[in-house]
Amino acid sequence: MYFMEDTQVARTIQLNDGARMPVLGLGTWKSSHLPRTSLQGAVEAAIAAGYRHIDTAYCYCNEVDIGKALRSKMQQGIIRREDMFIVSKLWCTHHAPEDIPVCLNKSLKDLQLDYLDLYLMHFPVGLKKMGDELYPKKDGRILTSDIDYVDVWKGMEALKASGKVKSIGVSNFNILQLERLLTMCTVPPAVIQVELHPYMVQTDLVEYCKSKNITLTAYSPFGSPARPPELSTGDTDPHKLLEDPVVTEIARKHRKSPAQVLLRYHVQQGIVVIPKSDKPHRILENTKIFNFNLTEEDMAALRGLDRGWKACVFEDIKSHPYYPFV
Ligand SMILES: NC(=O)c1ccc[n+]([C@@H]2O[C@H](COP(=O)([O-])OP(=O)(O)OC[C@H]3O[C@@H](n4cnc5c(N)ncnc54)[C@H](OP(=O)(O)O)[C@@H]3O)[C@@H](O)[C@H]2O)c1
Repeated sequence: MYFMEDTQVARTIQLNDGARMPVLGLGTWKSSHLPRTSLQGAVEAAIAAGYRHIDTAYCYCNEVDIGKALRSKMQQGIIRREDMFIVSKLWCTHHAPEDIPVCLNKSLKDLQLDYLDLYLMHFPVGLKKMGDELYPKKDGRILTSDIDYVDVWKGMEALKASGKVKSIGVSNFNILQLERLLTMCTVPPAVIQVELHPYMVQTDLVEYCKSKNITLTAYSPFGSPARPPELSTGDTDPHKLLEDPVVTEIARKHRKSPAQVLLRYHVQQGIVVIPKSDKPHRILENTKIFNFNLTEEDMAALRGLDRGWKACVFEDIKSHPYYPFV
């Protein structure tokens, strides 16, 4: 395994461009509904607990609060900018060449930063630009664009060349899309962020990325129990991963929580993981994953839960030719 022997929570993995990325990060999606001070408090609690990696996105509308937390901890002398690994994402409404730097600059301004450690293309499908609308619609239907994600990637490469982002990657791409991108790009993606957990194992994608030296980040490691209905399958979440008897039994055996087992499952495979919580006690609980090992039998039992079930499917854009989850 290619971990550095550094402090546990800030343990890093080397990317294909030489940068190092902490294997555990704080997810922040759906934190924007919180009272303004709460997300700031959650990020500050995470930094106090040792997290050095924060995952956000333009479309989460929460970067101002994350920026305040980072600034406050830097002013207190607890962290320096170079200690942190900050990830944001280019939103689908900004796929046109002239809009790509606009999206990044807004994130940088809100985060009060002059560079990002990693910038991801959030989705291979573009959405029509209509003012500041995140999900532009007409007559109730979402409006997509036909901009090719390979062209968007050229804009991402330009951002890396400008120094405003240190590493670039993609999110929600399938193998065919990755393969096409790899044949046409100058800079290969350093990271791909996708949904991964025992109900969505994606062995082919994981193996493919490892063979191409692209680091995986697992999003929604608990199956995103609080996801908004418009991004889900529309059902009432019949799949409660944190309560699955296989997961709870492995947790009992190791005297760990189900959440810790689900996080350990990734880091033990060399996969970065970004659980979201805005509760300080859970933020801390989610760091205690570096002092135990799942056995081969545990790993096999967890993989055996696979049912190709995705929490985040973005149903509205299903008919687009670049829709990745087919
Ligand atoms: N690239 C993409 O398209 C994409 C899509 C989805 C997510 N993401 C990223 O991945 C991050 C994580 O995914 P997610 O937010 O969808 O869901 P998740 O991390 O799978 O689940 C978060 C939920 O689990 C709860 N939770 C956290 N720690 C827990 C623990 N120890 N025990 C029990 N419950 C716990 C949280 O509640 P509390 O907050 O109340 O603790 C929250 O409701 C996101 O926040 C975002 O940064 C990216």
